[in-house]
Amino acid sequence: MPYSALSHLDCPRCGTRHDADRVQGTCSCGSPLLARYDLRQVAGQAGPRDIAGRPADLWRYHELLPVREAARVVSLGEGMTPLLPVPRIGGAFGVPDLLMKDEGLLPTGTFKARGAAVGVSRAAELGVAAIAMPTNGNAGAAWSAYAARAGMRSLVVMPVAAPRITRAECAAAGAELYLVDGLIGDAARLVAEAVARRPGYQNVATLTEPYRIEGKKTMGLEIAEQLGWRMPGVIVYPTGGGVGIIGIYKALRELLELGWVSGDLPRLVAVQSTGCAPIVRAFQAGAAASEPWPDAKTVAFGITVPKALGDFLILEALYATAGTAVAVTEEALLADQRLVARLEGSFICPEGAACVTAVRQLRESGWLSGLDEVVVLNTGTGLIYPDTVPDRAPVLSPSGSIPPRPPDSFTLSVPD
Ligand SMILES: Cc1ncc(COP(=O)(O)O)c(C=O)c1O
Ligand SMILES: [Zn+2]
Repeated sequence: MPYSALSHLDCPRCGTRHDADRVQGTCSCGSPLLARYDLRQVAGQAGPRDIAGRPADLWRYHELLPVREAARVVSLGEGMTPLLPVPRIGGAFGVPDLLMKDEGLLPTGTFKARGAAVGVSRAAELGVAAIAMPTNGNAGAAWSAYAARAGMRSLVVMPVAAPRITRAECAAAGAELYLVDGLIGDAARLVAEAVARRPGYQNVATLTEPYRIEGKKTMGLEIAEQLGWRMPGVIVYPTGGGVGIIGIYKALRELLELGWVSGDLPRLVAVQSTGCAPIVRAFQAGAAASEPWPDAKTVAFGITVPKALGDFLILEALYATAGTAVAVTEEALLADQRLVARLEGSFICPEGAACVTAVRQLRESGWLSGLDEVVVLNTGTGLIYPDTVPDRAPVLSPSGSIPPRPPDSFTLSVPD
């Protein structure tokens, strides 16, 4: 029984079929390529009961992943993050059935570990010796860590404004790191030029290689498995390049085709910041693709993507599931980041907080009802963004004393 049921790659735009056993970039028409599997073979070979007996990492879905040999898996123990009920936040918002998939527990602290684990493993299996990528920081940290684990070289370019810790993570993993005084699109141009001059390097920028999305789709597989092979009503996702939302949509459609889940797909919600909302604008216009967002800027740095290569795939997922797209303000998402930490104990990243704010807004607008089962993705740990929460600890002299009662500023309150 083969470890992977990968059959080929196909182009979602022009339909051209591509060989999956060669290193591939995008289609000649410019579209990202999607991995396809022999799902009939998978159905004959494994089922939910087999999966249940496997180790608690994302490789438990190996038939639906592209790595052909188990021995080629490069792992730091990624996957099977908790799907936590967050009843106090849900109660405060009027969405009692609110769950949070907490990706902050993954190696390198974000869901980027999923794409990196699968992408690096498959690249190494196909003989790639060096990877190069533009990043908003978190993906660079993850890919350089997995490249180090695979014994591969890595070249990373990120904006100067990317989270500081991600620079240190790349440097620690031995990546060749450059900063650009610009946005991720500027980094992408620099990487593409460098790769053209450096034989042996593969450009693994978002959606320019087919396997990162396969790693990220495991978020969708895990959500279904953790709910007992059932789909939730709504999934809310912070959308930058859109790999995660495209991956979740792809995963759930594969599970439907396998017959491991049934019923309607969840309504998918793409969340962006009002400082960079190209997908929201395109969705509101009913457009099939987005326009570049000028002067993009948000504290939720991972979703600062003015023009996503896979925008048409994100929009298709929203339209096909009767989903929606929502923009949230910086003030609201930062307030909700703190609220989640205070009410639930989880210090989430600003991107995850944007999803929490989106739930609040969608409940207020009536798009969500009090009966909906809603899963929000917290895509990373708040520890990456320590400056998003002001600390206000008074400094005491050794002979000082602590007040007998906590000041008002320390009491728990739930803003409306
Ligand atoms: C923490 C975090 N959340 C969300 C995103 C957006 O990811 P996607 O490309 O899947 O839309 C990123 C991307 O950098 C990120 O770092
Ligand atoms: Zn094509």
